[in-house]
Amino acid sequence: MSERPIGFFDSGEGGLTVMRAVAGILPRENLIYACDTLHFPYGPRPMSEVRRFLLGFMEFFAEQNCKLVVVACNTATAAALELLEGGALPVPAMGVVQPGARAATATSRSGRIGVAATQGTCASAIYPAFVRRYRAGAAVVQAACPILVIRAEEGIIAGPEVRAEVARCLAPLLAAEIDTLILGCTHFPHMRAVIADVVGPDVQLIDPGVATAAEVAARLQAEGLVNTTGTGSRSFFTTGDPARFIQVSSRLWPGGVPAAQQIRLDFKRE
Ligand code: DGL
Repeated sequence: MSERPIGFFDSGEGGLTVMRAVAGILPRENLIYACDTLHFPYGPRPMSEVRRFLLGFMEFFAEQNCKLVVVACNTATAAALELLEGGALPVPAMGVVQPGARAATATSRSGRIGVAATQGTCASAIYPAFVRRYRAGAAVVQAACPILVIRAEEGIIAGPEVRAEVARCLAPLLAAEIDTLILGCTHFPHMRAVIADVVGPDVQLIDPGVATAAEVAARLQAEGLVNTTGTGSRSFFTTGDPARFIQVSSRLWPGGVPAAQQIRLDFKRE
């Protein structure tokens, strides 16, 4: 049993979808959300730069005495995969890609799996690699959808314009006759209803955040670290403007975010 918090890290509002999934199954945990809206979006940035930002956040989470950090960002998971796998970070941390890839391979019947993600995640080919590791012979088709990241970050997650943008972005995946679609950017589950409407009932949606939440619970259970007595505090930090974060996240976080603090982090050169 441990009352120490769990940290969540993303470039912006996307990781809230992962934290929401964890809060749903581990309501007594103290959760800390910290995002880098100052450097949003991560998708077009060089991976070395994203890794540098992630390392700055890991120091912050270590200072917060986190027992576990969820890298609630696919792009940062791709950028820091070796660090995550090597356990070479100042706090225990896990990404969202492997749980997402595992869930997709378990769900797909045809083995034709689509990935909607950022440019950085698509270029890294991290999803095709893990999907094929869990299911040899799977056909993986990717689509970079940066416009949807921007829309979600603005809190624009419904309406005819977003629907048209979703349809445009996903058209190549639907043309490839996928039966499963990985929402490979944590911003996308915010617009899940629109995406579900566009792809129709024959395509199963995979939210890696949901699969990750189950793995967080299993890991804490196995390590004897589940918080069984806490009241479930939630705190929010951003490198950007806290007022803007509060305003947008009030549309994206159940009940709204009452307060957020600005943090200044030391992003060391590699
Ligand atoms: N939400 C993030 C992801 O899952 C990053 C989006 C961005 O900053 O471009 O990849």
